[in-house]
Amino acid sequence: MAGVVRMKGPSALVTLLGYLFFSCAYAQEDNDEKYKGKYLGKLNPYHHQVSGDVWAVDQYTLLLTSFNYDGNGADTFFWAGASNRPGPQGFIVPDEWGKTNILDRYFNKDFILTLPDNKKITDIKWFAVYDLVTQNTFGDVYVPEEFDPPTSQKISQLSKRSHNVSSEPIVILDSKTISIPQFTYNGQGIDTYFWIGLGPQPSSKGQKVPDEYGYMDSLRSYNNEDIILELPGDKTVFNVDWLSVFDVKTNSNYGSVIIPNGLNVPPSLIKVRKQTQSLPNCVQLHKRYQIAWEIFGPQITIQLSGQVDKDEYMAFGLSGSETSSRMEGADVAIAYMDDTRGYATDYNITAKAPCGKVLGQYKGVCKDELLGGLDSNQLYTAVREDNINIITYRRTLISSDVGDKDFPTDKPAYVVWALGRLDKTNNEPSFHDVYPRGDVIIELSRKEPENACIDFTEHNHKIFPREPWQKTEIFDRSVRTFKATIGPSGGKRGYQGITSKPSVGLAWYIEGALIPELYLRRGLTYSFRVHGGNNPHSADLYHPLIITDDPHGGYDTLSDLAQSKIRVLAGVELTRRGRPRPTAVGPLCLSKHNGRDRRLDDNFPSFKKFNRTLVQVCEPGEGGTLVISPNSSWPDLVYYHSFTHANMGWKIHVVDSYTKNGAIIHKLSLLIAIAIVFCGLFL
Ligand SMILES: *[C@@H]1O[C@H](CO)[C@@H](O)[C@H](O)[C@H]1NC(C)=O
Ligand SMILES: *[C@@H]1O[C@H](CO)[C@@H](O)[C@H](O)[C@H]1NC(C)=O
Ligand SMILES: *[C@@H]1O[C@H](CO)[C@@H](O)[C@H](O)[C@H]1NC(C)=O
Ligand SMILES: *[C@@H]1O[C@H](CO)[C@@H](O)[C@H](O)[C@H]1NC(C)=O
Repeated sequence: MAGVVRMKGPSALVTLLGYLFFSCAYAQEDNDEKYKGKYLGKLNPYHHQVSGDVWAVDQYTLLLTSFNYDGNGADTFFWAGASNRPGPQGFIVPDEWGKTNILDRYFNKDFILTLPDNKKITDIKWFAVYDLVTQNTFGDVYVPEEFDPPTSQKISQLSKRSHNVSSEPIVILDSKTISIPQFTYNGQGIDTYFWIGLGPQPSSKGQKVPDEYGYMDSLRSYNNEDIILELPGDKTVFNVDWLSVFDVKTNSNYGSVIIPNGLNVPPSLIKVRKQTQSLPNCVQLHKRYQIAWEIFGPQITIQLSGQVDKDEYMAFGLSGSETSSRMEGADVAIAYMDDTRGYATDYNITAKAPCGKVLGQYKGVCKDELLGGLDSNQLYTAVREDNINIITYRRTLISSDVGDKDFPTDKPAYVVWALGRLDKTNNEPSFHDVYPRGDVIIELSRKEPENACIDFTEHNHKIFPREPWQKTEIFDRSVRTFKATIGPSGGKRGYQGITSKPSVGLAWYIEGALIPELYLRRGLTYSFRVHGGNNPHSADLYHPLIITDDPHGGYDTLSDLAQSKIRVLAGVELTRRGRPRPTAVGPLCLSKHNGRDRRLDDNFPSFKKFNRTLVQVCEPGEGGTLVISPNSSWPDLVYYHSFTHANMGWKIHVVDSYTKNGAIIHKLSLLIAIAIVFCGLFL
């Protein structure tokens, strides 16, 4: 019986991940007052120093707290059953790692256990620490008759007061997580937020709840959308009386719901990290991002704290415009960690594109130093703790670099901010994933300092699923001509999700599909009709097509040395002076969001649905052509790219025949994809 591991496909993986997640989250939480679910009882201690408390987290899950066992039983397991008392009739409950190994020693441990095979707590009469060989019970707890384990609870719908606010009945998923099905709001409020507070009815004395994507901006319009909110910081449904769609400017409640007391809901497993802000002023830019600062004499000290991945950057700076928040022309710091070393580098934004040379001049998001300016930021401290990067730097309010903007102290400042991924090949920022929709105004010089920041809560996979859209393949012997156009890369589920690489915001569309993998046969001739833009003055919309053996792309941005290591298979010729020149250049065909907020790209379940919201605009003229005949000298895997920008294209498989031997691999990757989806849903 020892060491039986019963892992069954994705669901087992999910539970295992669930355990890991909870164990990590819970181990660091030493607040005894934290809501743990419904109390089942104390373990009756019989032998081997078994003791501890048992709680029901939900219908399927037990939480053990302060659990002890000396580990000296021979064949001892967590054991549960429906008979009257613990005995050989029962089943093993896998341990906190999802394993059915013989139990080891525990000293004062907190962890969760999930009953196997979707069994419910109401299906068992007892839970025990039990020795199977000697049929000895070392400790047990009984499930009372009529025991009612916590589960999500439906409450009322939002009251309909104005601005077309409405919803279906709201569901409290757990103590911090609220689902609002079919939410509708016309988006016409001025300063309107999800708003929570105490008291008999909604009032201005409340607190903002970040929207379903973690933004703190005034709410957009919603049309029958299912959304999930997470209460901020240490707020739970137990310390909040109402949730409202509230306009702070006019002090009006557009629709609200009272949250009943004593809801029997599962505890939230999300860890809250207490603020450790040391500077007096702080503004929450997003659920995952805050900026704190202090002005002292001619200097400003800025601390950026972001709940980001290791390869993500935080950007913050002064807008390119005096009257709105604008990226172009902005003077920003790009802050990130490279292993243990931190950076807060001074950048100048001249175009919404990665830094690159356009006809000999640097354009895009470029380091000041590249443009002949100075790095005016002095890095002060940089740490990464609990998945949060905290980077502090200093600058003079009025910089000695004439290209920099001045931090105003006599009026509010329009600022810009963003979070996004670094291109790890050069540690340059790629397209941002998280950024404000409208203007962000901060009063930097305040009479009274104000800290308006909230505690970070751990990433909640229930709210932010990340499964990529299904990848597309063109595996068709009859297709010999490919139309190549440009379109948006589609958020975390598009280019980034499919390739696991950062995105520049745009990507190749081949035959109308986002970065499909192409299968081309050696010995056949194929042609691409290229509509990537033909204006070499454009920093972001000039994309000749090339094919190389390098997965990264952006050939033109590389050094001579880096270029010499890449095999170009098509799309580049050498000028008489020996410089590379692209050959497959054609008028631009660009798919656009057409005014839709691109931050909602992750909302779309598939590329097809996403694609339907785009509008394609094509400049007149024939596409440029790229004709290729893959031969035996071609490697099996090559890539199509933009000549000017990295990370816009994807794979070409060069095959010897059009019979698919990758079928098995395909099934496997599908399984993995399913596993990832499940994890996304349940973690
Ligand atoms: C609410 O929607 C209805 C149509 O469904 C419309 O006639 C009405 O003007 C809307 N009210 C507001 C305040 O937008
Ligand atoms: C940033 O770019 C703008 C516009 O091209 C220029 O005026 C300014 O001097 C640049 N700043 C630096 C630091 O190079
Ligand atoms: C995407 O939309 C365009 C029209 O804008 C259409 O031509 C193309 O076939 C669509 N792609 C897919 C994969 O549906
Ligand atoms: C194979 O293709 C490469 C690149 O397209 C070309 O340079 C080479 O001459 C071809 N070799 C043969 C034997 O045709």
